Formats: sequence, C-alpha cells, structure tokens
Amino acid sequence: MPIVIAAINGKGGAGKTTALMNIAGEYALRGRRVAMIDMDARNNLMKWWTDCQEKDAQPEDVEVYSHKTARGLERWMKENATAFDHVLIDTPGEDTALVDPVIAFADLVISPIQPSKREVLGAIDSFQNVLRVNEALGRNCRHGVLRTRITVTVRHTELYRKIRPIIEDKVGTYLFRTEVFERNVYKDIHNGIGTLQMLEVTEAIAKARRETQALVGEVDEVLLSGKAIARGAA
Ligand SMILES: Nc1ncnc2c1ncn2[C@@H]1O[C@H](COP(=O)(O)OP(=O)(O)OP(=O)(O)O)[C@@H](O)[C@H]1O
Ligand SMILES: [Mg+2]
Repeated sequence: MPIVIAAINGKGGAGKTTALMNIAGEYALRGRRVAMIDMDARNNLMKWWTDCQEKDAQPEDVEVYSHKTARGLERWMKENATAFDHVLIDTPGEDTALVDPVIAFADLVISPIQPSKREVLGAIDSFQNVLRVNEALGRNCRHGVLRTRITVTVRHTELYRKIRPIIEDKVGTYLFRTEVFERNVYKDIHNGIGTLQMLEVTEAIAKARRETQALVGEVDEVLLSGKAIARGAA
C-alpha cells in the first residue's frame, strides 16, 4: 500500500497546497510514483495541474485527481492506490466533515501554519481530529505542524517563539524542525510551471530545493520512526 500524507488545517491559506506540490515534486524526483488528490472545491491543485498541462510542464510521475466526497476518495483508494508509492491529499481550508475520512486513510497529517493565532488553533484542531479518528479506528496516523511563510521579521515575534512550547509541550504533537520560508518561487509554481524540482536551478531555487529536501527527509523520518505518533500530551 502507498504512504498517504494529507495536508489539513481548517483555518485556510497556511500553505497546504504549496507544501504538497513541493513534497510531490521531491518524491517524483526520487523515482516514486505520486498521486495527488484535490478534495478542495476551489480546485487549486487541479487548476495548477491543468495549467501545467497547457504549458507543457506537467511533472512526470505525478498524477492529480479530483475527489470532493468521502465516497469518491474511498473508491479511488480501493481501485487505484496500489499503483502509487505516495498519495498526497489536499483538503479545503475550512472546517469540513471530509477530514475524518481523509485521516482514516492517512499515515501522516501535516498541518501547515503561518505564525498566527488562528492558524495555530486550526492546527491544534486538526491534531485533535487525528487523535479522535485514531482512537475510533485503532489506527496510528501521525501528526505534525509545519511552519510556513517564515521571514526574519516573523521569527522575532512573540507568537513565533511560543509555537514550539505550545505545539510540543502543551498540545503534545510534533513540530517539524524544517521551516518553509517565504519565497517567491513558491508563489511562482502556482502558475502552472511544473514543480519546484523542474525549474532551472538558480541560487533562489537551490535554496528552496534544499528546504524541500530537508522537509521530505523529515517526513520520511517521522513515518519510519515512532516520532509524532498522535497520542496527545502526557
Ligand atoms: N512559503 C511560501 N512562500 C511564499 N508564498 C507562499 C508560501 N506558501 C504559500 N504561499 C502562497 O500563499 C498562498 C496560499 O498558499 P496555499 O494555496 O498553498 O495555501 P492553502 O493552505 O492551500 O490555502 P487554502 O486553504 O486557501 O487552500 C498562495 O498564493 C501561495 O502562492
Ligand atoms: Mg489549498
């Protein structure tokens, strides 16, 4: 069976779709077969995919599907999942009943946050949902919080400093050591120019690539080790 990774944060705009595009591109580069499923009614991922097709920039080894219901997802998983090494599921940036069925398939849920209270609370909610579904189904889906759109200025804010104690000590979930910085290239890839990994390497792109490699390395580590098991604070 493939490894299933979902991006979930009910408080929108934190960088779910972007993070999944970058992770997909990195796995594809490593020779894995990657499926992405767009469960967001606004179709950001699917639009990216069709834009890439129009520009003849569709990544090899990445397929994008659109399913907006739990049943659609279940059917797809049953019929297609074994053809892939990784399935990445993108979810809407709002509270939705879709998240439970997504978590039920996931090995890892990533909750991206920009350092804002709203998004931190959204990530905590996602963690609670993972705990609840794990408990109900006797599963062991992991959960981690990913800091995104980080800038030097943001790093000086009080909320930024509080993220680790809140997420790790108080809430008891995992905080990715890798942070995703605010970078223009992450905006650019939304314009249908393929994945980050397909772009000609400039200094700026090399930095983004290193960041993404570190993130995927950490994702693999979390999936392999007992780290980030969603069991809640002691
Ligand atoms: N690290 C980053 N650096 C710069 N821009 C970013 C970064 N991450 C995301 N963005 C930009 O922020 C916007 C929102 O990102 P994205 O669509 O990935 O978030 P999302 O969580 O999927 O949002 P939604 O909940 O609306 O689906 C996009 O325009 C994207 O280009
Ligand atoms: Mg999105």
